[in-house]
Amino acid sequence: MSARFPVSRPRRLRRTQALRDLVAETRLNVNDLVAPLFVREGIDAPIPITSLPGVVQHSRASLREEVRQLADLGIKSVILFGVPAKKDEIGSGAFDPAGIVQVALNDLRSDLGDRMVLMSDLCVDEYTSHGHCGILDGHGSVDNDKTLEIYAKAAIAQANAGAHIVAPSGMMDGQVGVIRSALDQAGHVETSILAYSAKYASGLYGPFREAVDVQIVGGGDRKGYQQDWRNAREALTEVEADIEQGADMVMVKPALAYLDVIAAVRSIVNVPVAAYHVSGEYSMIKAASANGWIDHDVVATEHLTAIKRAGADIILTYLARWYAELANG
Ligand code: PBG
Repeated sequence: MSARFPVSRPRRLRRTQALRDLVAETRLNVNDLVAPLFVREGIDAPIPITSLPGVVQHSRASLREEVRQLADLGIKSVILFGVPAKKDEIGSGAFDPAGIVQVALNDLRSDLGDRMVLMSDLCVDEYTSHGHCGILDGHGSVDNDKTLEIYAKAAIAQANAGAHIVAPSGMMDGQVGVIRSALDQAGHVETSILAYSAKYASGLYGPFREAVDVQIVGGGDRKGYQQDWRNAREALTEVEADIEQGADMVMVKPALAYLDVIAAVRSIVNVPVAAYHVSGEYSMIKAASANGWIDHDVVATEHLTAIKRAGADIILTYLARWYAELANG
């Protein structure tokens, strides 16, 4: 071969670990990760979640201990999900000042102040007897605007309890705008909104439903409000609407099957982009590695890095504690 110019040799920069670390384009960091945590009303000891190995439903006390440890490991944020003792038609536990997430937020805010960014998932599916993310109309479908009234109350209750960020996940139209005005009117102008803007009606939420004891009535689904996975452009419409209504950050969920959506969202917005590596994504890694079919640490790092490479600034993941422990050596 007599090439006019020397051939390109990308392998030169792959020779040693130090070289690879030097030129790496994507750097995963503990600061990027948000740990989703479950807190259950009326229990004295944590309860394991079978389909989410290593994740538990916390008691109030065990949650406080866990979050203290996460703070010491360098994790900057947690997002709380509540499992109430009683559910009802309208999901009252989501806005009751004595509801489980509200009391847990109070606990954590008094333990850690501003050292940890406290997020709360803002939805009613964990609190409704029928398992839907909103209030049902007379025909069994979710009434968008009646649901918004409940979301507004939940936002105020969470902000009163100490949430730094509320994260509406119900995919009701107009939810960000209604929550922003409700927070402002209640004097919570500094409480931020992380909008679950592009949330797909995914099969990957299966283990989460065990985690929060949710069964949708009549074997129903969320396809009437969450997005159809065949659509990517539609996600940009959702994101634009949420930013216009006052979202401080936007989210794509799930993550790995939607890397194209994460990249597209990243390219059209300047606000922080989050991605949720959901329960099913986590459980697949745990199950395959438990069988010896994949290497847990390699695949987990590869997945989280891919989500960041696609454009996510922030990753919500049940792997947060594992990664922080790994990073702390
Ligand atoms: C709704 C909500 C869900 C998840 C986060 N918020 C469930 C759903 O939409 O059915 C799923 C998270 C996961 O699977 O890890 N409150």
